[in-house]
Amino acid sequence: MLIFAHRGASGYQAENTLAAMAKALELGAQAVELDVHNVEGELVVFHDRRLDNKSSGTGVIHLVSKDYLASINVKGESIPTLWQVLELIAGRCIVNIELKGINTVTPLIDLYPKAMSQLGFTKEQLLISSFNHPYLHELKQALPEAFVAPLLASIPLDGAGVVSELNAYSLHLDVSFISQALVDDAHNRGAKVYVYTVDHIDDIHALKQIGVDGVFSNYPDRAMQALTQK
Ligand code: G3P
Ligand code: CA
Repeated sequence: MLIFAHRGASGYQAENTLAAMAKALELGAQAVELDVHNVEGELVVFHDRRLDNKSSGTGVIHLVSKDYLASINVKGESIPTLWQVLELIAGRCIVNIELKGINTVTPLIDLYPKAMSQLGFTKEQLLISSFNHPYLHELKQALPEAFVAPLLASIPLDGAGVVSELNAYSLHLDVSFISQALVDDAHNRGAKVYVYTVDHIDDIHALKQIGVDGVFSNYPDRAMQALTQK
């Protein structure tokens, strides 16, 4: 199973910060997950739509300026740009970039080839996910070679049909509704199944039993250790 450090090693460091990404690397994570928004045309790494709950700032993130973003912090850490995170990781592990905010496709189309030519990432190491499936469709039209992954937050009417619609590499599902049927359907369509957010060792073992290929965990070290126990 592939273990993603969810929002970096967010059980140990402020989520979606360079510190959380560095901690994930230190723990030996094979993959990290992060969330991006568009601020004045640049992708920045942050989860929420509003800054209020998780930073010292206030307001809707895609409406503030870069200067304002640089003036606030998340538990003492700055809010990084996606490029800064990619520079830090530099091809050392898989990066799952979740398109969380609006207008995030165009800047990613611009950044994607540079991440490969300048920072040493392969297309297998840049996995682009989103709950916004039209965004993934748009991305795939511009970058057919990109690895995309639809996220689902509830049980779909058509099983893993979205995998075929998007020619997706993987399907990302909430642990609350995962089922053997959905895992099998995704696999039959040629996609991996990655499940979020899983911190309990018993859950990891149960997911492995039904053939899940990976999980997102805030404590990637514990998840990796769990896999060596059974
Ligand atoms: O990408 C998996 C997971 O991160 C999706 O949910 O809310 O943590 O971004 P959320
Ligand atoms: Ca996410």
